[in-house]
Amino acid sequence: MGNQIHIPLTALTGGPLQPSRLAAGGVGATELPPASGRTFYLETFGCQMNVHDSEKVAGVLLRRGYRQVDSPAEADLVLYNTCSIREKAAQKVFSRLGQLRHGEGHQLVGVLGCVAQQEGERIFERAPWVNLVCGSASYRRLPELLAELESGRRRVVGLDTDTDETFETEFTRRDNPFRAYVTIIEGCDKSCAYCVVPFTRGPERSRTSDSILAEVRSLVELGYTEVQLLGQNVNSYRDPSPRRMSFAELLDAVAQIPGLRRVRFTTSHPRDFHPEIVQAIDANPVLCDHVHLPVQSGSTRILQRMNREYTREQYLERVEIIRRARRPISLTTDLIVGFPGETEADFEQTLTLLEEVGYDGAFSFKFSPRPNTAALSFPDDVPEEEKGRRLAVLQEKQRQIQLRRNQALVGSTVEVLVEGRSRPGQWTGRTSSNRVVNFTSPRVPNLGEYLQVCILAAGPHSLVGEQVI
Ligand code: 5AD
Ligand code: SF4
Repeated sequence: MGNQIHIPLTALTGGPLQPSRLAAGGVGATELPPASGRTFYLETFGCQMNVHDSEKVAGVLLRRGYRQVDSPAEADLVLYNTCSIREKAAQKVFSRLGQLRHGEGHQLVGVLGCVAQQEGERIFERAPWVNLVCGSASYRRLPELLAELESGRRRVVGLDTDTDETFETEFTRRDNPFRAYVTIIEGCDKSCAYCVVPFTRGPERSRTSDSILAEVRSLVELGYTEVQLLGQNVNSYRDPSPRRMSFAELLDAVAQIPGLRRVRFTTSHPRDFHPEIVQAIDANPVLCDHVHLPVQSGSTRILQRMNREYTREQYLERVEIIRRARRPISLTTDLIVGFPGETEADFEQTLTLLEEVGYDGAFSFKFSPRPNTAALSFPDDVPEEEKGRRLAVLQEKQRQIQLRRNQALVGSTVEVLVEGRSRPGQWTGRTSSNRVVNFTSPRVPNLGEYLQVCILAAGPHSLVGEQVI
């Protein structure tokens, strides 16, 4: 039977304010006059980095005396933490801003994150009722920017990316009671032809290993047993302190922290995925049996056009290293269909790669031309309809592969971290390989508990089982 965890009740009801680092030198929110009595609404779009940034932003606001509310109508300050990875995601914020217009004059409105960085002060032209525009590389200045807003300045901007600082706060308001996100590196130094991230999040900045390890220890003290280390490219982590830890050494050090049961990390760039990472996984059962290794395309020609810095064969060599690990490691990926110049033959190569690797999960997208990217100047020559067809074919193939791989687990026993109830009489949780397991139990399990579950059936997206007593 697994250990129980003791997460403060507030964590389960949403919104605990927790110390995020023990070392001194936070953003200094406490040095500025508090804005007691004000309320904020914060909505987040996009990836886990954005979700975690919002947890830190909420921490900064709560420390300043703000109270979080559930709807924009109740809020003195409305914030959108935005995503610009694809056109559709970026559009969402402008429709939200349009809906807010009615409240013009009564509340302060801020646009944070990738659309803020991408559009900059142009946002004021499209939505003159916006008061704050701030990209993620400037979040360290948030307390100062908020103080300016509170003192009556109408337009406040934070758009620098030429910083070597990371966004570390004294307090973080974590939303997930089971998995705590910990940023280890911000920004991205790659230049994939389709991607806005190097522009919107700026150059790579790693946190010191001391600061990361202190945060993970404090999370264990709070009752967390699972952490997920975050970065656009965690493999290029370089400890800026004299310890000079590599990413694999950092994984080793995090895994040694007593009380931790699961350590995840995302995202890995194939080019920098070194065998030492697999050695660290082999040596530390606490490191989860899962690697997310975005491939984007199975065609070397397209990978070159994307400027991914690896060929299909080099990618497959990395996969081979992962497959030779001492325990089975689940592999997931990201894929883009319809990149400029992608022929039917290139697309076929992506389909054969899916079979060859046998992914346990895949996020797949139609190519979307983005501002400030190299691919914007390539003719977007795969018609929308054809992109849609390729996406559907790819997703159906991947569904069959996942079903096959999940069905191979029927009859085995897996360890599940219990996260909640899926329906009456059935519980839900995740394996170390990040698979969802819905299961029955002869008793009411505690949330956060680790249980052994025998797998009885499998679908493409989840497993069904019963607790082994
Ligand atoms: N169009 C479509 N998909 C994209 N991604 C990144 N940029 C684009 C784009 N311009 C996908 C990639 C990446 C994931 C986070 O989003 O697959 O790995
Ligand atoms: Fe996250 Fe990328 Fe979207 Fe920015 S653009 S929010 S980094 S997914």
